[in-house]
Amino acid sequence: MSYQTIEVKPLADALGAEIFGVELSQELTNQAFDEIHRAYLDHQVIFFRDQNLTPGQLSDFGRRFGPLNIYPFVEGLAEAPEVLEILKTETDVKNFGGAWHSDTAYLERPPLGTMLYAHEVPRAGGDTLFANAHLAYESLSDGMKDLIKVLVGVNSAALTLAGGRRNLSKGYTGMQTTNLDKVAAMVAEHPVVRTHPETGRKALYLSRQHTVRFKDMSVEESRPLIDYLSRQITRPEFTCRFRWRVGLLAFWDNRSTQHYAINDYSGARRCMYRLTVEGDRPS
Ligand code: SIN
Repeated sequence: MSYQTIEVKPLADALGAEIFGVELSQELTNQAFDEIHRAYLDHQVIFFRDQNLTPGQLSDFGRRFGPLNIYPFVEGLAEAPEVLEILKTETDVKNFGGAWHSDTAYLERPPLGTMLYAHEVPRAGGDTLFANAHLAYESLSDGMKDLIKVLVGVNSAALTLAGGRRNLSKGYTGMQTTNLDKVAAMVAEHPVVRTHPETGRKALYLSRQHTVRFKDMSVEESRPLIDYLSRQITRPEFTCRFRWRVGLLAFWDNRSTQHYAINDYSGARRCMYRLTVEGDRPS
């Protein structure tokens, strides 16, 4: 089906598309919203250049997709508590999201999707990689699909392999953290193969960042397969890479993608506004 109100330019064969012809600070017609929604489901991560959004306008756009949720470990902005400032300053060493993951898989109801709006970007570097977890599942052998269809991942906020949350208080000077005493209690069990509630496509749903082990199995038994499936999701042919500019907004489907914020801009500043839209329980 073609688009009447927007232009959609795919970024890679695996996933990702740029959307042209919309100004998100203005009220969207229902037709424009429906087309954006369709492009989002078709391409899994969509990008809008040259937007001029206040945190409140970003929240308004997010609410078109559903209620917003509150990220547990970083304080939101005073004027829009559901919007976080993801800031890496010139002296910070670690970055937020610097490992392959889908967002907050340790919640009972992880977000449907995440919006990231570029406020300040380095002159070079700071790109984000995205991966298509449907393609990763669909290209497994029938034998592997059969093996993993019963597996349930135990996802924890306490597990970080790439300098993440456990180090929030150490490496991230620019960000206002909160609730770090609750990290260990944030655990949720989700199927390793989930079905997208809107498209019916199956996707791999696990990561080295969050999945500690499979239910009823030990860490030692689980880890080799978690590693293998995580590598499968991030095979280069299942990915796209996006270069940020100020005013650029990305919106990814957290049910069928993973992403990785590249930490290659030491001495430079990067500041993004981020919000998440509530999702349902993976099944
Ligand atoms: C995130 O993981 O939500 C942040 C991604 C980024 O900053 O590129």
